Amino acid sequence: MKAAVVREVGDADALIVETDFPTPKIGPGQVIVKNEYAGINFIDTYHRKGLYPRDLPFVGGQEGGGTVAAVSDEAAAQGIKVGDRVSYSVLGTYSEYTAVQAAKLLPVPDGVELDVATSCVVQGLTAHYLTSSAHADLIKPGEWCLIHGVGGGTCQWAALMAKIRGFKVIGTVSKGKADVAEGLGCDELIVLDEVAGASYEDYESVDIVARVKEVTGGEGVKCVIDGIGKSTVDISIDSLARRGIFVSFGNASGSVPAFPVLRLIGKSAYVTRPKLLDYIVTRDELVWRADEIFGWLKDGKLKVSVDTVFSLDDAAEGHKYLEAGKSKGKVLYKI
Ligand SMILES: NC(=O)c1ccc[n+]([C@@H]2O[C@H](COP(=O)([O-])OP(=O)(O)OC[C@H]3O[C@@H](n4cnc5c(N)ncnc54)[C@H](OP(=O)(O)O)[C@@H]3O)[C@@H](O)[C@H]2O)c1
Repeated sequence: MKAAVVREVGDADALIVETDFPTPKIGPGQVIVKNEYAGINFIDTYHRKGLYPRDLPFVGGQEGGGTVAAVSDEAAAQGIKVGDRVSYSVLGTYSEYTAVQAAKLLPVPDGVELDVATSCVVQGLTAHYLTSSAHADLIKPGEWCLIHGVGGGTCQWAALMAKIRGFKVIGTVSKGKADVAEGLGCDELIVLDEVAGASYEDYESVDIVARVKEVTGGEGVKCVIDGIGKSTVDISIDSLARRGIFVSFGNASGSVPAFPVLRLIGKSAYVTRPKLLDYIVTRDELVWRADEIFGWLKDGKLKVSVDTVFSLDDAAEGHKYLEAGKSKGKVLYKI
């Protein structure tokens, strides 16, 4: 089958499109999905360059959507049929076919397109757990949260979902993506200059902490959702209200450096560094999150912007686009 494969870690060109990669065989409890789309996520670039090591060679990606092409007896017993439309997250989705445990499948309801359903899996489920669970209920409806980079994929969704949850939202965004952010319904948008020669925010171009204090009447925010990392860690901690929580979920600008726990004493603040897998632990939890997202999509409460669809034949281009910070929404491969 066709697949985008990493045989040696490296830059985007390490992603090689092969046409004779072995097609996966179905195992107990599994189905084979014929992929129509694969999502491109930052974590795929971390695998490709070896930041998050994996055994070589490997097929890239961990977000897919398509139709069920073959069903094991165990999966059939759960009512899964050939032709069902599904999305899912397992490793190895940049390929024509993927073997997926039935327990990982998200049935895609009528009225939700497969490109949108594929986009939901990593970024949608991540935005869902960030706004519903990772804050450990230290923020309540009507209270303020700060979400960085609301022009980016996950955080566009997080802003929309935070509003659905009833939080008041301050978003940061670069000038170039302010148009996208304006449609999200943030209560306050802090528009930042871009770093010279790049498309992403210059987090020093505005005194964000001062602005947050002003907007929140001097209190600060009860929760910060931060996927930017190194460039924003100080802003995030300094923007917290008393007993607020810093949810540090990503490293788009580099890893968050170690800091002394004593730093949190000023506000008796909390910090968490969560990951999606710990918030979709059981089938029930996964299905609860996905059903809520698909329901909001059908009701029009959530909108997904698919930014660009690359052909899998141009696999390296998709990674280059994401790493250049050019995306204004979901980036996909059409298989
Ligand atoms: N822990 C988890 O469960 C989890 C799940 C999903 C993703 N993540 C992580 O979260 C991060 C964001 O992922 P995403 O899917 O939301 O990506 P995305 O859609 O590409 O958004 C990335 C955001 O980071 C900004 N950015 C990119 N490069 C930057 C740089 N060098 N310096 C400063 N800002 C930069 C972008 O700013 P502009 O909008 O201005 O371009 C954009 O707002 C990644 O580190 C990813 O691995 C974690």
